[in-house]
Amino acid sequence: MSSDSMSPITSRRIRKAVFPVAGFGTRFLPVTKTVPKEMLPIIDKPLIQYAVDEAIEAGCDTLIFITNRYKHAIADYFDKAYELEHKLEKSGKTEMLELVRNVLPDGVRAIFVTQAEALGLGHAVLCAKAVVGDEPFAVMLPDDLIWSRGPGALAQMADVAERDGSSVIAVQQVPREQTASYGIVATDAFSDRCGRITGIVEKPEPDVAPSTLAVVGRYVLDPRIFALLETTKPGKGGEIQLTDAIAALLAERTVNAYRFEGTRFDCGTHLGLIEATIRFALDHEVLSEHARRSMQAALDELGVEDLP
Ligand code: G1P
Repeated sequence: MSSDSMSPITSRRIRKAVFPVAGFGTRFLPVTKTVPKEMLPIIDKPLIQYAVDEAIEAGCDTLIFITNRYKHAIADYFDKAYELEHKLEKSGKTEMLELVRNVLPDGVRAIFVTQAEALGLGHAVLCAKAVVGDEPFAVMLPDDLIWSRGPGALAQMADVAERDGSSVIAVQQVPREQTASYGIVATDAFSDRCGRITGIVEKPEPDVAPSTLAVVGRYVLDPRIFALLETTKPGKGGEIQLTDAIAALLAERTVNAYRFEGTRFDCGTHLGLIEATIRFALDHEVLSEHARRSMQAALDELGVEDLP
């Protein structure tokens, strides 16, 4: 290998974001029979839109969706809705028109790549290889919704990646009994929000987990990951794991764990979806007052006093 190909990612700003959205979403059946889980709404925006907005805010102009034949609703959603736009325009509903148009702002393009077989997250990311090419890029898992008053999590990470020329992975502390639900990292000491990753393992049992720092679905990755994914064997659950390719990347490049500012909701679970809805409702400029009252009324009516 030439020394050139061993050099780490240059300090280029990420422009491309990969969204693996080919999962079946079985946890949310029956709704996911016809509605992809990425299209489940928090108030009036589908989950995927929150992730897309975060990517665009971070500077991405190319959005790559790794999808499958059952997920047409996602492509339809990002397609231009001529008839609807025409109607809104004619009736002077400019605010709504803006909403519809801003699903995908001017200058941002969406590319759809088919993942024919569900072979794992690593395999899904590998499907983006030809579109991403040889530049650092983001991977965003739309299940992980990150609420933040300041800059979005990916924008924070892109700054670090650009500054250090490193790969960057979002992490947060989880209770030890939950390590088997996450990629778990071992790191050097943190300086501010960043710590160099020294080890990473997919979904370890609590007694063997190297720490309780869990990977959250935001990654800025060196394109070298693609070559590593090509030789990654099926791991946990018989799937090609992104975590295993990142473990191989550690030997070659700097990969930083980043404790983002913001609150993450695991919208891949019922409870996470409920928590996110409550949070966004309470923080909503129009709905918050009513939302608070109805929550109080529901608690009173159901006779729920202080929870234990
Ligand atoms: C995936 C990753 C895991 C990561 C998690 C974050 O797992 O494989 O390393 O911690 O996303 O949400 P999944 O939740 O898709 O099983």
